[in-house]
This record gives sequence, C-alpha cells and structure tokens, in this order.
Amino acid sequence: MAQKIYINKNINKFNKKIQIDGDKSISIRALLFGSQAFGKSIIDNILLSDDIFNSIKCLKKLGIKILLKGKKCTIYGSGINGFKFKKKIYLDAGNSGTFARLILGLLIKTPYPIKLIGDKSLSRRDFGRIIEPLQKIGATFKFNKKKGLPLMILGSQFVNPIIYNENKGSAQCKSSVMLSSLNTPGETVIKAKKSRDHSERFFKYLGIPIRIKKNNAIDKIFISGQKNFKSFHYKIPSDPSSCAFFIVLTLLSKSSSLILKNVNLNDSRIGYIKILNKMGAKIKIRNLKKRYEEKIGDILVKSQKNLKKINCPPKLNSNLIDEFLILFLVAAKAKGVSIFRNLDELNKKESPRLKLGSKILNLMGVETELTSNSIKIYGNSDLKIKKKIVIEDYHKDHRVFMTSVVAGLVFGGNWIIKDVESFKSSFPSFLKIIKNLGIKFKLS
Ligand code: S3P
Repeated sequence: MAQKIYINKNINKFNKKIQIDGDKSISIRALLFGSQAFGKSIIDNILLSDDIFNSIKCLKKLGIKILLKGKKCTIYGSGINGFKFKKKIYLDAGNSGTFARLILGLLIKTPYPIKLIGDKSLSRRDFGRIIEPLQKIGATFKFNKKKGLPLMILGSQFVNPIIYNENKGSAQCKSSVMLSSLNTPGETVIKAKKSRDHSERFFKYLGIPIRIKKNNAIDKIFISGQKNFKSFHYKIPSDPSSCAFFIVLTLLSKSSSLILKNVNLNDSRIGYIKILNKMGAKIKIRNLKKRYEEKIGDILVKSQKNLKKINCPPKLNSNLIDEFLILFLVAAKAKGVSIFRNLDELNKKESPRLKLGSKILNLMGVETELTSNSIKIYGNSDLKIKKKIVIEDYHKDHRVFMTSVVAGLVFGGNWIIKDVESFKSSFPSFLKIIKNLGIKFKLS
C-alpha cells in the first residue's frame, strides 16, 4: 500500500462533469436510523469509506443484519432498541467521531457494559461533551482522565427525557441526544446552537414526532419518544464537504470549470459556498430539488483570477466547520488579509486543524497570525511555491491530506505528503477523480 504521494505541479486545464462520493454524515445517519426502523431499509449510493465500514461492523456486532453490495446497503431493523445486546462486546469506531458519538445515544438501554474504542486520533477527542447529557438520561460511564476513548457505557431500563443545552454548535452531540430520545418516554427538549440538521430532517422524513422552533442562533427541538417508525428507501446525495476540495481546485486553477452532480445542498453544509462567492467566486447552483426533506442539486464552478479577502462571520462557522482548511488556501491567494474567528472547535477535530492549517500555510511561505481560536491570513494573489514541502505528523487527518494535495496542485512546489491512506476515511474516490481530471501524481 502506498505511503507517500509526490505532487509536482503538473496540472492542465479541465472542463468536466463529476460525481463525488456519497455524504458521510447522511450515510452514517441512514445506517443508524435503518438499525432502529421496523423492517428492511435500503440505502443507495452509500459512501464506501472506512468510517462507514467501521459503522457497519459495529452495528453488526449489535445484532443488526446488514448486506452491502457495491453502493447498495440493505439493513434489517427490528424497531427502537432492537439491538441484540451481548456480554463483553467492544465497538471499534475507527476514525469516526460521528459514529462514535451518535451510537452512544442508541446504547442508552444496553443491559451489559459496552466498550467503545477508536483509532489514535479519535481516542484523543472529547467524549465528556456527550457523556454528560447521556448520564442525565440514565446511562453510566467509565472513562479515562481525558474523557477520550476507550470508554465503557452501561445503559439503564429507567431512562428520563431531559432538557439539554447544546452550546458548542455540535451536530454530533445534538444528534446523539436526539437518538437517545427515541428510547425515552415523554418529551425531550434540546436547545441547540445552530449546526448541521440532517438528524432533524431524518425525523421529519420518517414521520417521527418532532417540533422545531427556530430563532437566530438557537434551534429549540421537542421530541416525543418511544414511537416506532417504518423502514425506508434512501438515496444518498454527494457530500458537499468532499466537493469543496474540487471546487477550490477549480477556482484556483487556470481556465477550468467543473459541474458537480447531485450534491446535498443543505444550508447548514454549504456556508463555504457563500463565503467563496463573497470572495469573488461565481459558483452557481442548478437543478435544485427536495428529496427526503433535504435540498439536492448541481454545483457549477469556474476558475477565478481575482479573489478578495474575507472577514468570515463567526455565525457561519458551524455551517462550514469541515471546510476551514480548504478555505484557508483561498485566503492565501486572495488579495488582502482574511480573518477567521471563534474557531475553538477547529482544534478539536481529527487533528488540531487550526494549528496545522497555519503551519502548512507558513511552509508555503504565507504569513499568518495565529491565536488559540483565530487566524489572520496575509493573502498573495501571485502566490507560487518553488520549494520542497513535506507534510507529516498530521494525525492522519483526511482533510489535512486532501487540502495539502490541492495546495500542491494549484500553487506548485515539490510536495511529499505522508500517510496517503488517510483520505479513505471520508472520500475514497479523491485520488481517482484527480487522475480523471488529467492530473498526474506519483505514489510510493
Ligand atoms: C458531523 C458534525 C461535525 C462535523 C463532522 C460531522 C456530523 O462535528 O465536523 O465532520 O455528521 O454530525 P461536530 O458535531 O463535532 O461539530
């Protein structure tokens, strides 16, 4: 298996239509909801990434029958809490923070302790944020000092609905409590700082009772628990976060254009398109439709020479939380000084992304001013790299890897990026699509 990728600027213009892999957040949710529905659900175009394979393995360990044939996944649920709990099982979530946090919500009634483990990067992440509300609902936990993984969860047959203040803007925490509320009698109330709302849309699509009162910064969510729901047939749209790498690649290349088909265009996911358009991109949406309570459509992007600085409004942060790294590259090429603030959550991802993002820009010769939660990027519209850049020790973070590949392709220089396999946790076709655009690279 390849360890390193070598990028030497070798990019010709391209004009293509492409289809990006299925959405990661929606694929994981479809599996989890399928595991709790009554009967056989079918998920088409499921993402075939490591995070999904690990999610499927864990659900199988909980007694759920799942068949995967190509991108078609069939899942046999036996209703809410229809898991077959066994003694002494452990679940390995691999690199997936989303699966790890969401599954805990569904384990709220496990009669035996279940151990949750993950890879090195996931083990370092904060599970205290989800242990706290789930304890209030009725679960008991054993955890280490840092409240990372491994941890042990023991459920209870006496679970209570809670009023939960989710104040980090974390869709994972919000969704975990939403899933646990399927098991609780009475009404759960979640006051959630805005974040991606795929779980809410699944509730609506599946007819599970939910009410949402929206105001500027907070969504107040009311859920009535213990209502079984029917199986479903869902086609996963393309992942807008994976699209972002190719949108920026096109934007920063010469005389190129790209159409990205059937992309999830949920407003809580495409904050980066708003920001890019404010910076001077002319990204367009076509064929907009609604499916499964979600917006879906095609994205059109063209190369853009004159890009402007941005003062990124923090209220959009949770709508572009996975796209900051790739946006930093655009800021590096934009005219003027860009500012991104209130980024506390960014250092808590698969790697400390704010710090690593700044480090990569500095290696590229771009000046930054970094604080614990903000970055100023001094853009240079003539940015060209001529030196050797080695990217290593990045906690195998898929988004750091893909951002570095795009940087090498658009700014030049001789790049060696280690831990090539990392992109497979979210976007397995990444390198194949690069090749199909006629771009050359070497693996070894
Ligand atoms: C996700 C939520 C976000 C995001 C992650 C996927 C989800 O994490 O960064 O990639 O599917 O709910 P947080 O909830 O920790 O912000």
